Amino acid sequence: MSFAKDFAWGVATAAYQIEGGAYAGDKGLNVWDVGSATKGRIFEGHTGDTACDHYRRFREDVALMKKFGIKHYRLSVNWARLIPAGTGKVSEEGKRFYLALLDEMKRAGIKPWITLFHWDYPYALYLKGGWLNGDSPAWFEEYAAVCAELFGGYTDRIILINEPQCFIGLGHYSGVHAPFLKLPASEAMRAAHNVLLACGRAERRVRAICGDSVKIGTAQAYWPAIPLREEDYELAERETFACREDFGSAAIWLDTALSGKYPEDYAAWQKREGFTYPASDMEIIRCRYDFCGLNTYSGNYVTAGDGKTDFLTPKPSVPKTDMRWNVYPDSMYYGAKFIFDRYRLPVVYTENGVALTEWKTAEGEIPDDMRIDYTKRYLRSLHRAAQEITVEGYFHWSFIDNFEWAEGFSKKFGLIYCDPETGERIPKKSAFWYQKVIESNGEEIFK
Ligand code: NOJ
Repeated sequence: MSFAKDFAWGVATAAYQIEGGAYAGDKGLNVWDVGSATKGRIFEGHTGDTACDHYRRFREDVALMKKFGIKHYRLSVNWARLIPAGTGKVSEEGKRFYLALLDEMKRAGIKPWITLFHWDYPYALYLKGGWLNGDSPAWFEEYAAVCAELFGGYTDRIILINEPQCFIGLGHYSGVHAPFLKLPASEAMRAAHNVLLACGRAERRVRAICGDSVKIGTAQAYWPAIPLREEDYELAERETFACREDFGSAAIWLDTALSGKYPEDYAAWQKREGFTYPASDMEIIRCRYDFCGLNTYSGNYVTAGDGKTDFLTPKPSVPKTDMRWNVYPDSMYYGAKFIFDRYRLPVVYTENGVALTEWKTAEGEIPDDMRIDYTKRYLRSLHRAAQEITVEGYFHWSFIDNFEWAEGFSKKFGLIYCDPETGERIPKKSAFWYQKVIESNGEEIFK
């Protein structure tokens, strides 16, 4: 059987990683604009100040998407471009940019999947304590309402936040992502709690504005445990949702939001750290998602050891991407199954893709056969899941080479090559292949 007729084949990006125009007009700064300016934090001092210059070249990018048959595009809104101070006045220029982009997409027949927050937190709000401030859920709700009012007529999918595992875990706890904080665990837990409150409030508010016309979800950084043997299935499922005291588990965000209760192991960690909150908060946190967005690139094989779980060290033959992530296509199948078993929500792979060491050849081409191979293998695994559970879409990360956070431009994830100095765009071999995948509704992956 093939993929569902209305399966959403798409590509994904995020505002800070592609837009540039960091200082354009009255745009407010965000924590990445400010944080990336400090030497030593980002690979070779790169910044997203210009990135792919999508802010000025968006028409060209939409035209490229259209040329390659892309019908769904997951993009994010740069909060401080739209509302420079984070709350209050909406920027006319910011508004104009996003409406022009959405109009251009509409003309090209491309559906937007809009992520409200993909890590670029307004600096003005950060100075007031950011996610640690008890008002931060209300700030996010206000921003979500502005987005719903402005963009609700263009989209039927809104993703509230992207990878809280990273912007809290890496941003507020281990300090490798903006705002580069290494807070004590109890403080990072406060930030996490405010993020959950923010999502609960925003979910209700967006629904109140858009009604049933918009489906709401989140996008989780999701690296499932993969059973080595079928008899390890339940063990892998358990390990996938276990909290490891690093904010990395999807359960912290999904169990809590969907059931109004923190997972037991995370609650035990909160207790050990002395973190408390009013019980009534859980009524705000509890909300409803219409689908579950997963960003999956790899996972970890597990098997039952001597009374404990063995996390297997990859065999030397396991291929690694340029991020040093193991190529484990089975992460797609098992990951989707575990999520569906637990939450009974349709799954959307909001991100999957591969960074490769590659460059433009003397002939001006990017022959990225390994990206084709990687994607083919992951999609076959996804196809297996789609025979058993509801999978609504797949978004390749990324449409275009872009600013890969702490790694700067050194990691290339795009289907389209982008020279970060000149902005030159060149479709890679994989873009032509993905076009055939879309056109054949997935049949191409079996060739
Ligand atoms: C996760 C993030 O959402 C995205 O911003 C990042 O570039 C990719 N995965 C690759 O690391």
